Amino acid sequence: MIEAKSASDASPAKAPSKTDRIVDRAKHHLLQNYKQQPVVLVKGSGPWVWDAEGTKYLDLIAGIATCALGHCHPAVVEAAKKQLDALWHVSNVFYTEPQIQLAERLTAAFGGTDARAFFCNSGAEANEALIKLARRWQHEIAGNKERFEIITFEGGFHGRTLATVTATAQPKYHAGFEPLPKGFVYAPMGDLEAVKRLVGPQTAAILIEPIQGEGGVRPAPAGFLASLRALCDQHGLLLLIDEVQTGIGRTGTPFAYQHDGIKPDAISLAKSLGNGLPIGAMVCSDAVGKALPSGTHGSTFGGNPVAAAAAVATWDLATTPQMLASNVEKGALLHRLGNELKARKPGRVVECRGRGLLFGIEVDTGAADVVARCRQNGLLVNLAGEKTVRFAPAYVTTSHELAEGLTLFERSL
Ligand SMILES: Cc1ncc(COP(=O)(O)O)c(C=O)c1O
Repeated sequence: MIEAKSASDASPAKAPSKTDRIVDRAKHHLLQNYKQQPVVLVKGSGPWVWDAEGTKYLDLIAGIATCALGHCHPAVVEAAKKQLDALWHVSNVFYTEPQIQLAERLTAAFGGTDARAFFCNSGAEANEALIKLARRWQHEIAGNKERFEIITFEGGFHGRTLATVTATAQPKYHAGFEPLPKGFVYAPMGDLEAVKRLVGPQTAAILIEPIQGEGGVRPAPAGFLASLRALCDQHGLLLLIDEVQTGIGRTGTPFAYQHDGIKPDAISLAKSLGNGLPIGAMVCSDAVGKALPSGTHGSTFGGNPVAAAAAVATWDLATTPQMLASNVEKGALLHRLGNELKARKPGRVVECRGRGLLFGIEVDTGAADVVARCRQNGLLVNLAGEKTVRFAPAYVTTSHELAEGLTLFERSL
């Protein structure tokens, strides 16, 4: 604990603030696995949050691409509160309607009546479901007992469980956790020939993010997903798309793969799905979903009625044609402002990347310091990869607020 200075001290230290006291307690009691910013947030509304000292921030990271409709959106709050008063949790031993309503929406967007949804609680769990689905589909449905390996991409990110961290082709996340589970091989992002070389009798599936989020906001090259689809069809592999960061309308389509005109076999969702309440999903075609019959996979909390009710309310507002179009327009604004900044600061700003409301500005050096200075200037953003500052704003953020964010970013460079 912080010691108060005695009244007799010659130069009494400033009394610790509320934030100091809470951070001090956190440092004593929380596992020190995060690099947390020294801010305690207590309240949020739309794209704005307030800290324990009453300071207001423009939040353009929105819980890392999660609060799609902004903080405490009234429709989502109402849906969750109504469900809280009715029923919280009964497990998947029983049916609850919000989960079915959500499944209806997700499967319709994924592909008409021929689709299935499985609910879990996070992005990593949704990807675990993809991995288990792919192995079991090959083993039990396609009759390929030898196929278990999944090809993933350097710079990608799929979660922190042992399987998903192994799917994450970034050595920094692996260090110290060896031996890693078998069954993952890595290709450079966008390198079709390298992927072809990795395909063998043991290959079960290809797993890819349409835009690598944690890896620095790096979109897959145009046409790459279509080439992977063709390769999967040629070799009897499943194409799995990780939409955890890109899904629920963020890029201007309900799912980001839809820009590429392809149909994956299965996708994972989380983050924006519940607008901040924890919920994840795996959505797949019916034919592939038959690989996970009763007893093969499950979750106690998955599709919890409160999170599912919040997710239904979120989906209904986040994926309207107007909202999707607005996300595209606001993404174009971010690109225009980012590129104007690049022209004013040649060399300092290296590149602007992304799609819709997932946007990254790569700087030449000191990206973590830029993020810290943004915070001191009243703007919340975060680091993606080593050199990229990520913006993943709520869809309700106005163009004026986005422009204000870019001004604060420029001041912080
Ligand atoms: C693309 C992608 N997949 C999976 C995950 C893991 O999600 P979670 O942290 O909810 O387990 C993340 C998290 O950042 C992600 O960006």
